[in-house]
Amino acid sequence: MKNFKRYTVTAALPYANGPLHIGHIAGAYLPADIYVRFLRLRENDVIFICGSDEHGAAITLKAKKENITPQQLVDKYHELMKNAFADFGIEFSIYHRTSTPLHHQTAADFFSVMHKKGKFTEETSEQYYDEENKLFLADRYITGTCPKCGNESAYGDQCEKCGSTLSPTDLINPKSVLSGKTPVMKTTSHWYLPLGEHEAWLKEWINKGTLDGVEQHNPAEWKNQVLGQCNSWLDAGLQSRAMTRDLDWGVKVPLPNAEGKVLYVWLDAPIGYISATKQWAADNKTDWEKWWKDEETKLLHFVGKDNIVFHALIFPVMLRSHGEFILENNVPANEFLNLEGDKISTSRNHAIWLHEYLQDFPNRQDELRYVLCSIAPESKDSEFTWKDFQARNNNELVAILGNFVNRSVVLTHKYFEGKIPDVKPDTKFLLGIKDAYDKVEQNIEKYRFREALAEAMNVARSGNKYLADNEPWKLINTDKEKTAEVIHTSLLVAAHLSILLEPFLPFTTKKLRTLLGITKPVSWFFEETQLMHSGQEIGQPLHLFTNIDDETIQKQLEKLHAMKPIATEVAAEPAAIKPSKPEITFEDFAKSDIRIGTILEAEKIPKADKLLKLLVDTGIDKRTVVSGIAAYYKPEDIIGQKVSILVNLAPRKLRGIESQGMILMAEDVNGKLCFVQPSENITNGGEVK
Ligand code: 2FM
Ligand code: ZN
Repeated sequence: MKNFKRYTVTAALPYANGPLHIGHIAGAYLPADIYVRFLRLRENDVIFICGSDEHGAAITLKAKKENITPQQLVDKYHELMKNAFADFGIEFSIYHRTSTPLHHQTAADFFSVMHKKGKFTEETSEQYYDEENKLFLADRYITGTCPKCGNESAYGDQCEKCGSTLSPTDLINPKSVLSGKTPVMKTTSHWYLPLGEHEAWLKEWINKGTLDGVEQHNPAEWKNQVLGQCNSWLDAGLQSRAMTRDLDWGVKVPLPNAEGKVLYVWLDAPIGYISATKQWAADNKTDWEKWWKDEETKLLHFVGKDNIVFHALIFPVMLRSHGEFILENNVPANEFLNLEGDKISTSRNHAIWLHEYLQDFPNRQDELRYVLCSIAPESKDSEFTWKDFQARNNNELVAILGNFVNRSVVLTHKYFEGKIPDVKPDTKFLLGIKDAYDKVEQNIEKYRFREALAEAMNVARSGNKYLADNEPWKLINTDKEKTAEVIHTSLLVAAHLSILLEPFLPFTTKKLRTLLGITKPVSWFFEETQLMHSGQEIGQPLHLFTNIDDETIQKQLEKLHAMKPIATEVAAEPAAIKPSKPEITFEDFAKSDIRIGTILEAEKIPKADKLLKLLVDTGIDKRTVVSGIAAYYKPEDIIGQKVSILVNLAPRKLRGIESQGMILMAEDVNGKLCFVQPSENITNGGEVK
C-alpha cells in the first residue's frame, strides 16, 4: 500500500448555467465535503478544489436565449452557486472559475505542451454550418428528431428524453438553433485526442492499479459502477475525440491558424482543478506543484456518474500525455438521486434548488445534509421525498440526537448546577462508544458515507439507552454519586458526538461544542480530558433540532407540483356544484379501462386554441391523445407528467388527428382543469379502479 503525505480532493466543477439542486449535492459535493472534513479532523494536509465550469456551447446558447453575454450569464450563476455552497457549509479551499485569465493561460499551456509532444492528431471533417449566421454549429446548436425515440427536440450531442448519446449527423431533420434553418455540411479541422492509442495502459491502470507494473492505486477501493463503466467504454474501444471546437467562447486554441477555435469544454474543465490550485497557492503564498506532481499526493475526484468517463479515462490520458502530473487515486462517483418518483429535471423544474431550500429552511443546513447523506445514491440510484425528509428529521435528528443531548444538559442543570460533575465517568461504557471511531473511519475511507453516518448516530442511540437504563431522574433519590457518574458519562458521549458527527453535521456539532463548553478546535485524536473536565460549565439547555410539521412539507410538495396555468381568470362568483349523474352499476363502471401513463411529448395544434396533441406512454403502448387542456398547460411544462388515461375509449378524430383515448381531468367549480394523478409513483400501465 502506498503512503500518502497529502490529499488533493476535487469536486466536479458545476456548469455556471443554472442553480444547484439536491441531486448535484448528493451526487458529488456533500460526499466530498464529508470526506474532506474527515481528513481535516484527522489532521491531514488537504486541499479541496472546486469552481464554476464557465465554457461550452450550453452556456453560449442559454446566454443567447436570455439575450445577455456569456460572461454576464456565468457571472450570475457563479455568484449564486458560490454563495449557496458556502451557506450550505461546503467548505472548499477555493471556489474558482474557468473564465479567469489564470485558467485560460493554464489550459492553453497544457494544450501547447500536449501539442508539442505530438499528442493530438489534426483531422478534417464535415460539420454542420449555419449559412445565415456564418458559423459552424456546436452539437448543442443543432436540434432534430432523435433516431432512437422520435423526440423532435433532441440535441446534436444528446437526446434528453431517452438519454442516448448522439452526434449531429444522427439527427433526423436537423435544424440550426440560431436560424431555424437546415444547416449545410462544410469542412473544418480540429485537434483530436487519439484515445484508442491509450487503451492498453488504461486497461492495466484501471483494473490492476499499476502503470508499467508499478503500483498506483488499489482497484479494490474503486466502486463497482465506476470500474464497470470504464471497462464497458474500454471494451467497446475508445474513439478519437475532438478536443477543439468552432466557437467564440472558451479558451482560444494557442496555435497559429486556429482563428475562431476554442478548446473543447471537457478539455479545459478538468484543467480548471489545476488553475484553481494555482490561485489557491498564490493566495496562500505556497507552492501549487506538489499538490499535482508529487507521488506522495493522493488525488481524488468526486463526481456524479455522468462524469465518470471524463475523469477516469480522458483526464488521466491528458495528465499522462502532458507528462508532469500524477494520476488520480480514485474517482468515487455516485449514481443519481431521483425526486418524488421522477428524475430530477432542470428543464421541467422538477428539482429542489439548494438556494431555495436555504431560504425556505433558514439555519437548517444540517437537516438536509443529514437526509442527503442518509439516502445518498452511493451504489445505485436513490430517491428523495419530502415525507421521508420529515420523518428522518423528526424521528432521528429530533428524537434521537437532539433528545439525547437535551436530556443530558437538562439533567446537568437540574442536579449539578450546570457543571460537569466531579466524579469519574463510566469508562467501561465509554470504551464501547470509542469503537464508533473505527467504524466511522473504516466506512468513510471506503466512501461509504451512509454507513458511517449511521454508525455515528448509533452513538446517540446508545446514549439514550444508557440514560433509559440508568434512570438518573430516579437514581438521584438514592445515589447521588452514581447519578453524577451517569451524567458525566452522558456529557462525554455528547462530546464524542460533536467530533464523530463533525464531517456530516458541521453546524450542529459547532453548536453542540459551544453548549458543552468546548472552546478549542477539535481533532479526531482528542482524548476526553482534552475536551471536558470536571467543573466545566455547560450552557443552557436547547433543542438542536425541532420537528417539521405536515404543513411545511405540504407547502414544499405543492411548490414542486405547482403547474403554471396560462389562463388564470377566476370567475367572480363560484359556479354551483354540478348535481350527481344517474346511478350506474359496478359492471358499468368496470367497463372503463383507466391506466396510469406518462406524457412523453406535447405540442400545440395549429388553429385550435384549446387543444394539445400528446404522446402518452400508457404502459401498454405509446399513443396519441388530443386533449382540451391548452388553456391550462404549456406543452413544455407537462412533459414527464403522470396522468390517468381512459385507454378503451373508441378512437375519434379531432382536427384531423386521431385521438386514442382520453386524459382524465379534475375540473373545479370555475372550470379550471388539472390532471388526475396518483398520489405516489405508479408505473405506467397501472390500473385505476
Ligand atoms: O457535468 C458537469 O456539470 C461538468 N461541468 C463537470 C465538469 S467537472 C471537471 F472536469 F471540471
Ligand atoms: Zn431519444
